[in-house]
Amino acid sequence: MFQSNRCLNCHWLNGAGAARGLDLSAIGSRLNATDLLVALNDPSADVAPEYWTWQATTKAGTTLRGQRLNEDTFSLQIIDQTGHLRSVAKADLRSQSLDHRSPMPSFREKLTDAQRNDLVAYLSTLQGAAQ
Ligand code: HEC
Repeated sequence: MFQSNRCLNCHWLNGAGAARGLDLSAIGSRLNATDLLVALNDPSADVAPEYWTWQATTKAGTTLRGQRLNEDTFSLQIIDQTGHLRSVAKADLRSQSLDHRSPMPSFREKLTDAQRNDLVAYLSTLQGAAQ
């Protein structure tokens, strides 16, 4: 279930997965079954600011999207949607905004109730024990 739904494209679990991802290795010790269900069905319900998507239009008309890492007086550092680190000169931007929705897709329609229950049961077992 975990593999087939590409969770590891974005998450990190017991030493495997996406390096930029949120670590799920101990998710079962932080979230109860109800919270896990909400996280799967409605990821945008509660999104920490570091996961907001930054988007901007450059003066040349290009659209940029990504996770904002850092910012100084003249530039912004972002991870773009292909996972590459980029530095963007603020002087080149026409506009920018933050999208507060989660980059994680909702699994409400993607899984059957039984699959979702299995997944929640599995996530509950992840207590961050030995790798
Ligand atoms: C496109 C990337 C992506 C995919 C695919 C994805 N996630 Fe997520 N997930 C995120 C991001 C980013 C967050 C943090 C923002 C948020 O709370 O929605 C998150 C949050 C979560 C949380 C809540 C974590 C917390 O600390 O509150 C859980 C649980 C979770 N994901 C499980 C899964 C599972 C299980 C799958 C596969 C069925 C999955 N995710 C697929 C990106 C993704």
